[in-house]
Amino acid sequence: MIRVEGLTKIYPGTVALDGLTFDVLRGQILGFLGPNGAGKTTTMKILTGYIAPSGGRAEVAGYDVVRESLAVRRRVGYLPENAPLYGEMRVVDYVRFVAGVRDVPPKRRRAAVEAALEACGLGDVARRPIGHLSKGYRQRVGLAQAMVHDPDLLVLDEPTAGLDPNQLGDVRALIRRLGREKTVVFSSHILQEVEAIATRVVIINKGRLVADDTPTALRSRLGGHRPLHLTVAGASADEVRARLGAVAGVTDVQATERGGEAAVVVEAAPDADVRAGLFRAVVEAGWVLLEMRSETADLETVFQNVTRGAA
Ligand SMILES: Nc1ncnc2c1ncn2[C@@H]1O[C@H](COP(=O)(O)OP(=O)(O)O)[C@@H](O)[C@H]1O
Ligand SMILES: [Mg+2]
Repeated sequence: MIRVEGLTKIYPGTVALDGLTFDVLRGQILGFLGPNGAGKTTTMKILTGYIAPSGGRAEVAGYDVVRESLAVRRRVGYLPENAPLYGEMRVVDYVRFVAGVRDVPPKRRRAAVEAALEACGLGDVARRPIGHLSKGYRQRVGLAQAMVHDPDLLVLDEPTAGLDPNQLGDVRALIRRLGREKTVVFSSHILQEVEAIATRVVIINKGRLVADDTPTALRSRLGGHRPLHLTVAGASADEVRARLGAVAGVTDVQATERGGEAAVVVEAAPDADVRAGLFRAVVEAGWVLLEMRSETADLETVFQNVTRGAA
């Protein structure tokens, strides 16, 4: 669905993309991950035909984004970063307006608008002015306008930015649902979000590819750098160190006592999943496992790890 080859983009004084190459297969949900300024928005604008690259090539559904930009736009739905929506317009009027701009034939326009509103859960607010909606609903309107011409590919630039936790869950679920029908590329700087939604992850930094993997593979690559935190009742720190230190795959155990409970930090070998072993060891010792969680790696750690791996 997408072929990006040696893509570069130079703004006056800034190299935004520096030889970026990746493919996206039909049906994939690609999480496009990178810190601010990495070049995500620039890549998406090139893929949607809004700006031209300085060098390299990009194709969508076999069409060149520069030479065949009209064919590309017909097959792509785009949710820009900070999508500008007309606040005084009603939801249904706005989506109908976009359907016209996108050349949906007049005869099919009503059905297309209804389908997009339905897919994005906007049926109940169709007649409300966009400006009266919550940020989460406005984002759904952005998604509805992106898909009203029934594109094969959806390009969503930070679709969950600025949403509260409830809205976040809704919009993520919506993206996953849309991903059953369409190829989706969405950008984010939140690793957990990409892990939750994407079937494939591309990480860029400073306009260059840093990683291209499945979320599972990426997680296991980072797994060794995530210690497990346990809280165990009924055990002394010494006992915990001895018993849990003997579990296969465990490389280090730190334990401190706090009011009848032991706070434990376990390090494991990079490829080992020691959670089941730890659980059994706790139960066999007659203790109670009150908590077990893995430390979540933030994006900074991820970048350090994947770039170190690449080097
Ligand atoms: N219109 C522009 N003119 C000059 N520099 C730009 C422009 N747009 C983006 N940049 C620069 O290009 C780099 C990549 O930006 P961008 O693609 O927006 O990254 P991201 O979306 O990952 O945050 C940044 O250094 C940014 O400052
Ligand atoms: Mg951006």
